[in-house]
Amino acid sequence: MSDRLATDEALLSVEIAGIKFKNPVLTASGTFGYGLEFANLIDLNRLGGFCSKGLSPRPMKGNPPPRIVETYGAMINAIGLQNIGARAFVLEKLPKLKDYNTRVIANVFGYSIQDYVEAIEILNDGEGIDAYELNISCPNVKEGGIVIGSSPKSSAEVTEVVKTAAKRPVIVKLSPNVTDIKELARAVESAGADAISMINTLVAMSIDVYTRRPRIANVTGGLSGPAIKPIAVRMVYEAKQVVSIPIIGIGGIANWMDAAEFLIAGASAVQIGTANYYDPHCCIKVIDGLATYCREQKVGSIVDLVNSLQSV
Ligand SMILES: Cc1cc2nc3c(=O)[nH]c(=O)nc-3n(C[C@H](O)[C@H](O)[C@H](O)COP(=O)(O)O)c2cc1C
Repeated sequence: MSDRLATDEALLSVEIAGIKFKNPVLTASGTFGYGLEFANLIDLNRLGGFCSKGLSPRPMKGNPPPRIVETYGAMINAIGLQNIGARAFVLEKLPKLKDYNTRVIANVFGYSIQDYVEAIEILNDGEGIDAYELNISCPNVKEGGIVIGSSPKSSAEVTEVVKTAAKRPVIVKLSPNVTDIKELARAVESAGADAISMINTLVAMSIDVYTRRPRIANVTGGLSGPAIKPIAVRMVYEAKQVVSIPIIGIGGIANWMDAAEFLIAGASAVQIGTANYYDPHCCIKVIDGLATYCREQKVGSIVDLVNSLQSV
């Protein structure tokens, strides 16, 4: 490793749920495949970590196309959690991921609490997973996901049951499609979550005015990308006021300044999603940009930036 990378690591490393990350920049679930797809495009060893596509106990085909549409500064997707299944992830992907020195977070999805537990039990056998991220916030399926994540009671219930089954730390991914994010954050913290990640996509819709048809076969989908960032920053800030577990900020991050905003608002790390589609090097640029910013601002450790918002 070059001297510069080693000094950057000393500056940027963070600890969340007992896991040390070499920097606070991770890729967001569903936008980075199973990690390996990007191995020829960027050096995966540079990433703080990566989150797998949502894994269910059995493979899922997802929704029929069209499943993605661009909107101003954003995109809407309704993939419907297409994935290879937890077992195939353990058998086919994890052995190859072991070649890389980065943290691996397995994102988990289920239609019912039992599904989450089943997926976790399969993943517990896998070597090389550092933590689980529970997607209780997917807006693109009719059961599970957002249905569970919209209520503090059911969010707490799934967190508690999964915590008992999980051999690894559990990060619970919150939905922004709620009236009061603080209630949800409090509920999952009380139920034993080791950390929170937020936000998932916002329920959205786009219409072709000539055909008068929805642009997405599922009619509605989840909005992601730069347009959602101010909403996500506000929600991280609000959640940070009421919980003491670490928060991983997600939503519209496209450059190091966006990432720094989330950290100042209270996030201990960030995930980058949609930006990977149009700039696969985005995460690396954000890591380098944060290191330069810390040096210029004389911030001795990125941890000192977390929750450092000054009054107006
Ligand atoms: C195509 C696509 C697929 C996604 N799939 C998942 C998923 O499987 N599980 C999950 O928790 N989040 C999923 N997400 C949500 C992202 O991880 C992230 O929370 C959201 O896109 C906001 O971040 P961004 O604006 O940086 O993309 C997906 C997002 C996109 C765009």
